[in-house]
Amino acid sequence: MIKKGIILAGGLGTRMSPITKSVNKQLLPIYDKPMIFYPLSIMMLAGIKEILIIVNKGQISQFKKILKNGENLGIRILYKEQIKPGGLPEAFIIGEKFINNQSVALILGDNFFYAQSLTKTLQKSITLNNGAKVFLHPVKNPKSYGIATVNNNNKIIKLIEKPQKTKSNLAVTGLYFFDNNVVKLSKQLKPSKRKELEIIDLLNKYRLKNKLKAEFLGRGGAWLDAGSIEDYYDATSFVSTIEKRQGFKIACLEEVSLKKKWIDKKQIYENIKFYGNCEYSKYLKLLIS
Ligand code: DAU
Repeated sequence: MIKKGIILAGGLGTRMSPITKSVNKQLLPIYDKPMIFYPLSIMMLAGIKEILIIVNKGQISQFKKILKNGENLGIRILYKEQIKPGGLPEAFIIGEKFINNQSVALILGDNFFYAQSLTKTLQKSITLNNGAKVFLHPVKNPKSYGIATVNNNNKIIKLIEKPQKTKSNLAVTGLYFFDNNVVKLSKQLKPSKRKELEIIDLLNKYRLKNKLKAEFLGRGGAWLDAGSIEDYYDATSFVSTIEKRQGFKIACLEEVSLKKKWIDKKQIYENIKFYGNCEYSKYLKLLIS
């Protein structure tokens, strides 16, 4: 059973400069809450309560200001710095002590997921204790992502990072589940041409041992990565449309935690005091009224 999760929330956000010159991308708003709330809510929905957030050098205090040590959300949050963006698998090297002898989930800080029965699929995914699992979703521009080719049995037979040419349109999304070998295997990786350790190289190690499983988000599901300005605004307008229409919030951390009975109403009152008079607090008040 996977009990630990890492959110990789560093990176230079170069594609979103100048906005990201002085602010970590994952602290920018996606409509009504910081981007980091969305991947964090995915971890929580999966049932993961021990979280390591990896940020850029000197940025821990910014994240602590909003998420603290997680106690107010009924979880435990630890922080570590990544000195410079050396690639996604570095998360497992930086997080070696945190992972210890356990399996671990990884989510990229700029990834947004919204899909029917997602909670059930996530809860199933954390039962993994051998091998690795990825979530695949079709995209229009395969050149921008890690791309998987699957056979008729939905088994992954090929993985390439940002291919110039490919027949497959199945992107490997930024949500991964790994067994404990991930630390050892990440340390064996060599930097690619772009001088980064590549997640696709790590996944290929699992694939070649027949230990890589694929999960599909389903056509009705939404997956966005807020990497570019366009994608960032798409995520914001998606959240605003759904929230205005349904009256429910996406990625309200207190709501997830309350449902799981990790926090009580009293704690929500405390959090309302902390956030102050805002729309988010009004929503929290409704939850406990
Ligand atoms: O979003 C899914 C895609 O994410 C996958 O399909 C690709 O296989 C995977 O390589 C990755 O591609 P990107 O080009 O989107 O990765 P990017 O460098 O933009 O980083 C994704 C997030 O991880 C971003 O929020 C910054 C953070 N990051 C990235 C690197 C390389 C770090 O915190 N540290 C890093 O060293």
